[in-house]
Amino acid sequence: MQGSEAIKPENYEVKDGVTYFSVGEVLGLDKSGNAFELLCENAVVGLQFLTDKLFRVKLSRQAKAQMTFGPMIETHATVAKVDVLAEESAESYHFETAELVVEVQKQPYRLSVYDKQGTLISADTLRGMGWTDKNGTFCSKDAAGEDFYGFGEKTGDLNKKGSVQSMWNTDVYAPHNPEINELYESIPFFHAKKPDGTVYGFFLDNPGKTRFDLQAKDSFRLATETGDLDYYFFYGPTLKDLVAQYTYLTGRMPLPPKWALGYHQSRYSYETEGEVRELANNFRNMQIPCDVIYLDIHYMDEYRVFTWHPTRFPQPKHLLEDLRDDGFRVVPIVDPGVKKDPKYPIYQQGLAFDHFCKYIEGDLYIGKVWPGESALPDFTDGRTRQWWGEKHVGLVEAGIEGIWNDMNEPAIFNETKTMDVNVMHRNDGDPKTHGELHNLYGLYMSMATYEGMKEQMGGKRPFVLTRAGYAGIQKYAAVWTGDNRSFWEHLEMSLPMILNMGLSGIPFAGADVGGFAFDTNAELLTRWTQVGAFLPYFRNHSAIGFVRQEPWSFGEPYGRIIKRYIEMRYEFLPHLYTLFHEASTTGLPVVRPLVLEYPLDSNVRNLSDQFLFGSNILVAPILRPDQTMRAVYLPEGTWIDFHTGESHEGGRHVLAEAQLERMPLYVKAGTVYAGGNVIQHTGEKQEITYHLYKGNGSYVHYDDNGETFDYQQGQFNLLSISQRVDGEKLYIHWDLEHQGFESGASGQPIRMQVHFVEEPKRVEGDGVVSTYDRETRTLSLSVGRNVHDVVVEF
Ligand code: GLC
Repeated sequence: MQGSEAIKPENYEVKDGVTYFSVGEVLGLDKSGNAFELLCENAVVGLQFLTDKLFRVKLSRQAKAQMTFGPMIETHATVAKVDVLAEESAESYHFETAELVVEVQKQPYRLSVYDKQGTLISADTLRGMGWTDKNGTFCSKDAAGEDFYGFGEKTGDLNKKGSVQSMWNTDVYAPHNPEINELYESIPFFHAKKPDGTVYGFFLDNPGKTRFDLQAKDSFRLATETGDLDYYFFYGPTLKDLVAQYTYLTGRMPLPPKWALGYHQSRYSYETEGEVRELANNFRNMQIPCDVIYLDIHYMDEYRVFTWHPTRFPQPKHLLEDLRDDGFRVVPIVDPGVKKDPKYPIYQQGLAFDHFCKYIEGDLYIGKVWPGESALPDFTDGRTRQWWGEKHVGLVEAGIEGIWNDMNEPAIFNETKTMDVNVMHRNDGDPKTHGELHNLYGLYMSMATYEGMKEQMGGKRPFVLTRAGYAGIQKYAAVWTGDNRSFWEHLEMSLPMILNMGLSGIPFAGADVGGFAFDTNAELLTRWTQVGAFLPYFRNHSAIGFVRQEPWSFGEPYGRIIKRYIEMRYEFLPHLYTLFHEASTTGLPVVRPLVLEYPLDSNVRNLSDQFLFGSNILVAPILRPDQTMRAVYLPEGTWIDFHTGESHEGGRHVLAEAQLERMPLYVKAGTVYAGGNVIQHTGEKQEITYHLYKGNGSYVHYDDNGETFDYQQGQFNLLSISQRVDGEKLYIHWDLEHQGFESGASGQPIRMQVHFVEEPKRVEGDGVVSTYDRETRTLSLSVGRNVHDVVVEF
């Protein structure tokens, strides 16, 4: 029991009208399960090692450390055994793993992290850790010139140095302005990179409102508004390691169905069956590839979820079957708001089985959304998630394989734009207020949708798209960045946002191509489609009341160019699928800021108007009108202009030509990637060609049936290809590393193209057929599957 001493003046400090309480001195150490408990004057601090370079700190203002894990933490991470050496000296406690040393000073509590060579990585500031009289908690850390990346879906630059990041899922129509920080997703995870390249990261696991103040020169601060401080510290040493560790902790994206990597066409709304059929026919007649058509809110009967409008969509099953025969999937929107209507079965059931959010006194929470007054399911309760998931059965039976979850912040048409923070959530038996759990609402909705559909789809992979989410959302849904506008500035701003989402564990992300609100124009749509073709999620979507922006809307030459870039999306699809597979196994993003691959290059610390598609294809989009040239920074190595074959030594800028039909693209010498012919949708058979840009390098191409979970039982193929230059000779070697699925290619020769090379003097390899095209300087090779080596002499 503590006496008044606990509130002795040294233990708190008043600043800006806020009183800060610190945890005080460390008085002792206990062990509870696999966590250490640092018994401090005013609190207990739990310290738990999850791996040799990942530990958790939890501040509890109770007698014992409360170490229950947040719902998004993967079980494997919570049970792993870590050897920790714990020692005590007069001044401190010392904890040591194979990779890290954590030193906790006793008077007062102050936690520092060192590597095994004794170099300081991170330390609490003098203010340390504690809470305020406003009920929030905080932790201040020293910083010395760190760059900051991550934080999920945020406006502003790639590098968040000097900024304040606030986490509160918010629906703000037309929100992508630099000064608006709170958008639809909250991922309270970031990377800190020191000037010497050392990297560490923090994940503040708190789904209430949290705040990261990165403004001070020599420190930064993590703070929560509700709940206790619960943070995870990751030690790199590289940014890539951090993404791997963070996704080890919060989970990785399951491999999506291949069709979800194609081109998606949406509009708020395609309002009738006739309109949808006409849209589909236009794509096929004009031979513009497309895999997915979206149905926005008008398909429903007065916006009642899980219904179809009786006259606009009188025969949904029939429509879906016809579209499916033509290679289209249909993704309908499903919002959380359930119309308050006594005659509506979903509302009746929700009430009868107690699935809706309520106040503590038992009154139903009713908010206004598209259907008018609506009840909101309490997705924090497993029972309600199960119910909601099951409600998709009608859609699945009608042929739906993908769902679009929107308005799930949740968005409510009121002053605060969301649910009353005093509403109670059942939270699987641990009731909490909406204020404490707000950022989890959208994630739980997508979890319910994904898991429900997975059960109903007979072994096929569901696709879920969401607007709102929290750390871990990657396990359930792809994310689009919400209501942007048809402005060049919004095109530009989408890039650092999507790149930072990738660094925050969300590889499957994209923005509305063409811009959602306001009238787009021919040039903007063209440039936006060019870059969209190289971003993980590729959907053209626009709002009601603004000009149409389907690929053909602006006539020529725009339609032709837009079509060409959509075709290129499909030409790169085998490689994109390989990158998605990599993301699903390692957490690494599909598109990457240059800093991820070239962390020591001082030119790329805040570079986001160009990015890498995988690790070695550099995309330099045009982000302004009337630009037909742009400066491109090429990092170290030799880079080949994809369009002209011109070779450039990196480590410098080049001026790229970029007339409307050209978006600058560079491929690093030594690159091998899998490409394919143009197909109209992913259901068509695609022939694979391996593209080689002469140099030293290797590649492993992943493929499977693109549709089911059979790959988890080994039904996939891995084909490795390497190339090596020795004098005048190029040695190419390939191997089938794993053969688990019948792609239709067995028996067929392996096709390769070596780009932008001179005519070879000789090509050696059993039965190899080679042709050389002088105009494009392409060497095409066709090799029997039993031949594994080809030597090309130039
Ligand atoms: C929201 C979504 C938008 C959708 C609209 C109508 O604004 O962000 O994409 O089209 O609602 O459902």
